[in-house]
Amino acid sequence: MSESNDPPHAPDLSQAAGSACRTPDPIGLIEEEHALQRELCDLLEALADGLPHNFDKALALIAVSILEGSVPRHMRLEEEALFPRLRLRVGEDDPLNAALACLEEEHDRDGAASVELIDALRTAATDGFASNPNMLGYMLRGYFDSQRRHIAWEDRVVLPRARQALTAADLAALQAWIMTSDHPRCSHQSILAIRSARSAGGVCEACPNSGAVHSVGEQSAASGNVLPFNAKS
Ligand SMILES: [Fe+2]
Ligand SMILES: [Fe+2]
Repeated sequence: MSESNDPPHAPDLSQAAGSACRTPDPIGLIEEEHALQRELCDLLEALADGLPHNFDKALALIAVSILEGSVPRHMRLEEEALFPRLRLRVGEDDPLNAALACLEEEHDRDGAASVELIDALRTAATDGFASNPNMLGYMLRGYFDSQRRHIAWEDRVVLPRARQALTAADLAALQAWIMTSDHPRCSHQSILAIRSARSAGGVCEACPNSGAVHSVGEQSAASGNVLPFNAKS
């Protein structure tokens, strides 16, 4: 990602990312991606709470960036690398198999919902307002409610079982899948960046010079590149 795409007010994230991003712990990486998705849900809830009168298009484009990049890549990692290895280790009769099947169905359902949500958020960001705030609010709340349930299930049931059941060879294979695919190796920078953008927005909304800040958001909207959320670090 070039420097020109760095967010306004961005801190030095290269230091903050730390050694955690280089640790070969694929389950830890999935947990970190869940933390990013919880941040996304909080952002989507803030957008919904602002309707019908307020719509922050810069935050909406950040949400679009994560919904288009990190989220589908995360689902692919689970479906192509994690779940198949977990199924092999727990055996056919284990109740976890039914849970994994439900989670894959939710991926399909939430994936379809996110396509519509991306379209609605991008249209509202282009217009600068939500033409149908009730519908957008309904879509936002439906998506983040479902995602929070989904992530909680995976964090409380699937990942602890994965830590218990997967062998060192399984974890090495998962790590190799991550390193040889286009999957991001770290979400820590994105988590810091989304928090920074939200806190900067809160400060800037109260600032008498907020017009200058909005022009930065407009530049971001025009470029379509808001924050380095989807880069492979
Ligand atoms: Fe999932
Ligand atoms: Fe997940």
